[in-house]
Amino acid sequence: MSGHEFQSYFPDSGSIDYSDTSTAIDEAALAELRELAGRYPQPRSALLPMLHLVQSYDGRVSPAGVKACAEILGITEAQVSGVATFYTMYRRRPGGDHHIGVCTTSLCAVMGGDILLDRVSKRLGIHEGEVTPDGAFSLERLECNAACDFAPVMMVNWEFMDNMTPAKAEEMIDRLVAGDKVSSTRGAELTSWREAERVLAGFPDGRANEGPAAGPASLLGLTIANEKGWAAPDQAPPLPEVAPEPAVPAAPEAKPASVRRTRKAQDK
Ligand code: FES
Repeated sequence: MSGHEFQSYFPDSGSIDYSDTSTAIDEAALAELRELAGRYPQPRSALLPMLHLVQSYDGRVSPAGVKACAEILGITEAQVSGVATFYTMYRRRPGGDHHIGVCTTSLCAVMGGDILLDRVSKRLGIHEGEVTPDGAFSLERLECNAACDFAPVMMVNWEFMDNMTPAKAEEMIDRLVAGDKVSSTRGAELTSWREAERVLAGFPDGRANEGPAAGPASLLGLTIANEKGWAAPDQAPPLPEVAPEPAVPAAPEAKPASVRRTRKAQDK
C-alpha cells in the first residue's frame, strides 16, 4: 500500500480494553442481544453469538458489550470477559474493515502458508496482530481452518480463499484497496468484517454460500471405493452386556490420630 503510513498496533491479546469506552450499542442492539438470548433454552448458551453481535456493532468486544451481555444473561462481567478472552475470534481491540487470516498450521505450512503470511504482511506493511493506520486491514496468523484439502488457506472476513499463492493474495488485496468486488474462492462475495460478524451472530444476510464440505483429497477413499464397488461391512453385532462390577467393600473407618497415638503409648 504505497503512500500509506503504518503505525504499530497493540497485539490483540490480554484482557478487554477498558480504556476505550466508545460504543455503538444502542437500544436496537440491546433488543437484538435479547433476541439472541431468547433463542436458547438456557439463555447463557447465547453468549458466543451475542459476542459476535457486539463485535459487529463495536468492532471488538467492548466494555459496554460485556456489560450488556452480563446483564441480559444474568451472569457476571468476569464470566463474559473470561469467554471473550478465551476464544481467538473475539477481538479486544478494533480490527480492520477487512480482517485477513493466514493459516500456518502443518499442512498449510508445508504448502507455503508461512511464505503467504510473509507476503501478505509485506504487502499490507503490517505484522500479524496489527492493523493498517487507515483501518482498512488487519492481519492474523490462524490455526487450522479444517480446510486442509485446499491448503494453503487464507480467510478474509471469515470467507475462504482456497489454494492461495502469494501472487493471488497480492492481487486480491489490490482489488480490495481499489474498492472492487471480491469473492471467496467458494463463491460468496466479500462483505466487511463487521458484516460477517453479524452473520456469525445469527442474522443472515442472504448471501451465505457454504461451499464444498470436503475436497477431492478427503473424498479420495470414497471415490476409490465407489469405483471398485466396495461397501462398508455389515454393522457389527452389538457387544455382549457387561456384568456390573462387584461392589467394593467399604474400608474400615480410620481411628483418629490421637487415638492411635494413645494406643501406641499404651503398648510400650
Ligand atoms: S492446516 Fe491450514 S486449513 Fe488445515
